[in-house]
Amino acid sequence: MNPFEDLAKAAERIDASYEAYRSGQSAGFETADRFFAPSENIIAAADNLQFIRWMSEGPKAPLRPSFVYIDPPFFTGNDQLAKLRLATGEGDPLVMSKKAYSDRSSSGIGPYLSDIGLRLAAIRDVMDDRGVIAVHLDWHAVHYVKLLMDYIFGSSRMVNELIWSYRSGGFGSRGFAKKHDTILVYSKAKDYYFMPQKEKSYNRGYKPYRFKGVKEYEDELGWYTLVNHRDVINVDMVPRSSPERTGYATQKPLKLVEMLLESFAPKGSLCSDFFAGSGTLAEAALRKGCGFACCDVSRSAVQTAAKRLAKAGASFDVLVQKGLPAGGKPFLTFERQISMDGSAVCTLTGCERDVSGLGLKGKALESLEKALSANPIAMAEFGACGVIEDGIFKASGVFVPTSKGRELVMTTSPKDTHIKVWDKFGGSCARPIE
Ligand SMILES: C[S@@+](CC[C@H](N)C(=O)[O-])C[C@H]1O[C@@H](n2cnc3c(N)ncnc32)[C@H](O)[C@@H]1O
Repeated sequence: MNPFEDLAKAAERIDASYEAYRSGQSAGFETADRFFAPSENIIAAADNLQFIRWMSEGPKAPLRPSFVYIDPPFFTGNDQLAKLRLATGEGDPLVMSKKAYSDRSSSGIGPYLSDIGLRLAAIRDVMDDRGVIAVHLDWHAVHYVKLLMDYIFGSSRMVNELIWSYRSGGFGSRGFAKKHDTILVYSKAKDYYFMPQKEKSYNRGYKPYRFKGVKEYEDELGWYTLVNHRDVINVDMVPRSSPERTGYATQKPLKLVEMLLESFAPKGSLCSDFFAGSGTLAEAALRKGCGFACCDVSRSAVQTAAKRLAKAGASFDVLVQKGLPAGGKPFLTFERQISMDGSAVCTLTGCERDVSGLGLKGKALESLEKALSANPIAMAEFGACGVIEDGIFKASGVFVPTSKGRELVMTTSPKDTHIKVWDKFGGSCARPIE
């Protein structure tokens, strides 16, 4: 294939499909859950084109993010696997792999570029006029997408080509080990927000210079000054044992995304990630005092993000695009002890569903069946208590299984009428407490 032809065709298709997209209809959205207080923060289970349309035309429109971070599939040709830990109640949990999302494009780079280009065009139009976008990719497609960004945003709007350098397992036997990703940063207009970040620059010989007017610092390595950050960012991948780790495939480090947000998102502004995965951008926004409106087409991803954000204390709504395949409904059993004041302690005793419909085969299915026969709540990811009003589950408290995963205890308040449990496969079920 001729890559120039691929690019030229992709550009043509983007223009045509963007026109079709603009004149299309909205799929419609429903609010499924509200975590804690009413707020403007949103996590949506949706195809991003539909969600972007909802942001521009829906009941809350216009929602115009000042900062967008996207980390789309990289065109690796592989399925990306999430690691699920299934507690058996004894010893180490069983770890099974489950497809998180597909990164295969059987018909080559052309269709991949058309898809991503259409989304970039839609994002450009929903962004705030002074907005900035950061597109995270690697060697597979970044050089093609750089040209698409020049086409869609204009080459003069390029702000940075950031290199995220990391260490991870694996080495290069036929070339240098590939240990960096590239983040393309573009602004919508000339006048955009930027707050420089500082990094340490060690003095030659690690000795103090003692220049007049230059502030110097010392750490265990020696003397350094603080300078504006280069375009190379050294941040470790999320370590396997870190509490930050969600198990979602290709999760990016909070520290990296926080740094982007600090640089390009004014405090209090709206930030979006339209390929949200485990919700790293949303958590970074929460920590930095910004709002978030994010989406992912995978219900499991949205559930991972919702658990993560609820645990971090965020208030937000979970929206679901109408017509998105259902996540399934586990059958819940639980014991309750109701106190005189109406509060209750609900202990989950079962969270099960027909596993034959989960698309699992071989070892994965075997592990799940084994875990479930040892521990009937092995599938439960997290639970909440709250009320159901206007069809929306409004959570007032969130609970996770004990570290060994054998117990999920939900302590409700007298106002709560329901508990809800989310399983590890994107399914959920609410049940009345009484
Ligand atoms: C690389 S992952 C994002 C990981 C994320 N940055 C994190 O830190 O967890 C890419 C995500 O894009 C989602 N995705 C792919 N196509 C999409 C689409 N058309 N609309 C919304 N999400 C999509 C996948 O489900 C996957 O979760």
